[in-house]
Amino acid sequence: MSGAGNEFQVVTRKKWMARKCLSRRNRHKSESDYLNDCPDVNVDNFHSRLERICGEMSQSDYFIVAMETLQQQLDALKRPLERIVCLGLGPFTRTQQALHQTAFIVSTQRQYNIKEVFYYDPVFRDSEKELLQRLNGTVMREDCAGRHEATVPTLYYLPHCPYALMHNLLWCNWQFASLPNVLLISNSFEMVTLNRTKNTDDHISRITEHCTEIALEDDYEQHNVFNDLSLHTFPSEKLPKVEDAAFWKRCVPLKVHEDELITEVDMAALSIGS
Ligand SMILES: C[S@@+](CC[C@H](N)C(=O)[O-])C[C@H]1O[C@@H](n2cnc3c(N)ncnc32)[C@H](O)[C@@H]1O
Repeated sequence: MSGAGNEFQVVTRKKWMARKCLSRRNRHKSESDYLNDCPDVNVDNFHSRLERICGEMSQSDYFIVAMETLQQQLDALKRPLERIVCLGLGPFTRTQQALHQTAFIVSTQRQYNIKEVFYYDPVFRDSEKELLQRLNGTVMREDCAGRHEATVPTLYYLPHCPYALMHNLLWCNWQFASLPNVLLISNSFEMVTLNRTKNTDDHISRITEHCTEIALEDDYEQHNVFNDLSLHTFPSEKLPKVEDAAFWKRCVPLKVHEDELITEVDMAALSIGS
């Protein structure tokens, strides 16, 4: 697996911080400054680099096992995958994590020959949008804040995203007929609900005991890219009956950023190379 190439990142985050004389204490608030300061990439060169990483990705054990896991769930659903929606991928020309996650989702699109692949992240630059278009993706114009309707079997890819995005996706599909169409790769529901109080009533807390969660074991060469991610599915046989009005009553949607998943560890992991 190749590391960060020259066309990818000239100034690493550590060097950038040293130049700006930033202490660890100021790292947190400097993160967006760092990302804004990153020089723009040459789209042709970066496209070639991404294709190389996709080639490596599709041969990796991580990808092969993840595809087997996804296929098992599609077999159980007895319907083919028709769409991919990717939210919160991150600035993939500027961070290693988002770059390899992009390679994962593009490789998944190719594996299943998916025609409809939608992306949204407010941080995307024009060069990142152009790259996604070149990779046969569509960048959504509007921020749906996770409220996307699964009208067909859809893989939602929300790696290390705010709690509210995952919550709102469930909110939008909170119907007996819709939830089985949602196949969600995101941070493990079991883990994100661990520290929430017992009385919390939101869609993630409510669904955890009715969904199938399969951890995607992270043995990928690059660390802090695919950690703590699981495939979540919502098979109709595990869902409460349609008549269970209390369960199917919608909570309020959450505001994104109201309840962030981002931690110091995520911040430290954001650095590209060293
Ligand atoms: C913790 S970062 C994760 C980035 C990357 N996937 C990773 O694992 O490093 C959360 C991402 O969610 C994005 N985000 C915030 N609000 C969003 C929204 N309404 N829709 C989609 N993405 C959003 C942020 O811009 C950010 O890139």
